[in-house]
Amino acid sequence: MAPSVLLIGAGGAFGQPLTEEFIRKRSKFDRIAILAATEEKTSKFKYAQEDGVEIVIGSFLDPNVYKGFSHVISTVGNSIMRLQPGMIEAAIIGGVQHFYPSEWNSDISQKAIYGLRYFRDKQVTRDHLVAKAKGVPGFRYTIFITGIFTEWSVLEFYGFDHKKHTVKVYGKPDARVGLTSIPDIARYTVDSLLIPFEATGRDGAERVIRVGGEITTFQRVVDLLGEARDVKYSVTYVDPSEAITKEEEARLNGDEEAQMAWSIVPLISSGFGVPDGIPGSKLDNDRFSFIPEKVHETFQRVYKH
Ligand SMILES: NC(=O)c1ccc[n+]([C@@H]2O[C@H](COP(=O)([O-])OP(=O)(O)OC[C@H]3O[C@@H](n4cnc5c(N)ncnc54)[C@H](OP(=O)(O)O)[C@@H]3O)[C@@H](O)[C@H]2O)c1
Repeated sequence: MAPSVLLIGAGGAFGQPLTEEFIRKRSKFDRIAILAATEEKTSKFKYAQEDGVEIVIGSFLDPNVYKGFSHVISTVGNSIMRLQPGMIEAAIIGGVQHFYPSEWNSDISQKAIYGLRYFRDKQVTRDHLVAKAKGVPGFRYTIFITGIFTEWSVLEFYGFDHKKHTVKVYGKPDARVGLTSIPDIARYTVDSLLIPFEATGRDGAERVIRVGGEITTFQRVVDLLGEARDVKYSVTYVDPSEAITKEEEARLNGDEEAQMAWSIVPLISSGFGVPDGIPGSKLDNDRFSFIPEKVHETFQRVYKH
């Protein structure tokens, strides 16, 4: 039977391109639906409704919203990331058999980044899935590891100034970094529901999928952007301990958003912003039937002008 999928967070930065990819492959699924918290929030999903996507209105903590769905994909953002264990509880009561937690990041099981504040709520969610799968026969989950979104890798957030053509980054030029474009991440995610489930560990319930567009170095990313935009960026590499100090100041000031941001800013040039950082792990690109964009192709497509 074709999957019936409920999307939570479909209006977000990643949720929207993911929804658009589901629409392109609509015929391969029994049902595709978007969860909206309230009636007022449904207007932004009219485009999807016109293409055969249902809207379910309600709380992700209510088991009733999950009834009739085999799969849930959560693409929620940081503001409600910590509520995912409650979502999983409700989804299981509602009859869901397969849950995708909000991930799509570098491999956060690498020891060096395992404890980062930015990933705390994702780690708690993973632990919750492991525990639930032990007690709920047939329940499965998929963890999607993609590295950093190519389009996001050159944002001001990571220290880029596109007017002055400068970059201030906390790390080193030759740090490995793994990047995948947003449309490709959406394709991998949708296609993953259509390939056979192969457990990768933990009681036969867990499937980790690692994909990547390109693994390169941070300096090469800067140079490729410069080539696409026909400008030269100059980079200042700063000691990452400065970011750690700023993170701690934010924590002491009770500024959780800044604390989270400073915890992740150095990731891109740390060497750990990759999908294949665990020894022996390899990418699953060859399980899918398309070739992902290289970094220069994404930059040419998105940032040339
Ligand atoms: N690796 C990378 O470089 C990278 C980059 C970006 C994102 N990501 C990951 O991708 C995932 C998604 O991130 P994002 O930036 O796309 O998130 P986002 O833009 O913050 O989107 C969150 C969505 O959740 C929705 N939401 C909030 N409360 C809700 C509720 N009660 N019911 C239903 N929906 C609700 C929001 O809808 P409303 O606005 O209507 O409230 C919003 O559309 C995260 O895991 C993030 O870490 C990774």
